Amino acid sequence: MARTDIEDIEVELFQRALLARHGYDFGGYAPASFRRRVLNLASSLGCGSVGELTSRMLREDALLPNVIAGLSVPVSEMFRNPSTFRALRTEVFPILGSYPLINIWQAGCAFGQEVYSLAILLEEAGLYDRCQIYATDFSDAALARAQEGIFPARDARQYSENYLAAGGKRSLSDYCHARYDFMKLDDRLRRNVTFANHNLVCDGVFCEAHLILCRNVLIYFSDALQDHVLALFRDSLVRNGFLCLGNRENIDFAPAGRDFAAVDAAARIFRKNAGNG
Ligand SMILES: C[S@@+](CC[C@H](N)C(=O)[O-])C[C@H]1O[C@@H](n2cnc3c(N)ncnc32)[C@H](O)[C@@H]1O
Repeated sequence: MARTDIEDIEVELFQRALLARHGYDFGGYAPASFRRRVLNLASSLGCGSVGELTSRMLREDALLPNVIAGLSVPVSEMFRNPSTFRALRTEVFPILGSYPLINIWQAGCAFGQEVYSLAILLEEAGLYDRCQIYATDFSDAALARAQEGIFPARDARQYSENYLAAGGKRSLSDYCHARYDFMKLDDRLRRNVTFANHNLVCDGVFCEAHLILCRNVLIYFSDALQDHVLALFRDSLVRNGFLCLGNRENIDFAPAGRDFAAVDAAARIFRKNAGNG
């Protein structure tokens, strides 16, 4: 009979303990990358094994934010995949402009690079003052960083190039100021942004959104969990609302995907079918 590796058993026990003790369910995450993150987390917290990590996580409640931060992958950049932002600007913003008030939900905001990018483009399109943007993540540590809007100066050049490729009309430096080794995005970009904790696995409809951006989050989920989240997005969108996913994510395989039609398949921009609520 095939025997399971001890580490695999420990990872499974860790996952069950995290659910039982703290209510975080990682059962629908892709197993290989979840395993990798648990092993990294154990070593970064100085635990000799995943078993030791589990034991600490069960007894030290104060460790939970570190655990969630370690399991989340807050990799992002401003105007990531600039062609997507260009497509939002040319294909989606003109339609959003027909609403008196525009609700936007950016799910999985990581350290906030994407929400500041969006705020800049909405400002340049003259729409920002009509927008309420909800930026959510399940990691409080990521949300705290996102709220600060401070990024390493070494990323500035890449962000500027992305901004111009996304169709930016000015210079990115007009929206931030340099501080030692950091760049800080202007506070005014945050004036219509609400940061909030929301877990896509277990939390419900967040708002009545005209546009939902959720990029590079579904890739970490199993097909069943992706379908669950796509249904959540469908139910959170107004009739004809837009959904924008990451460029390695899709909706074809999922039953909930039938409730959307592609607006720009390459840019992964979809629209909720008119018949669905
Ligand atoms: C790779 S980042 C994507 C950041 C940004 N959307 C982008 O494309 O650049 C993935 C983010 O999803 C968040 N995340 C993962 N699972 C989540 C869940 N169940 N609910 C909410 N956010 C989640 C992580 O904390 C992380 O910040």
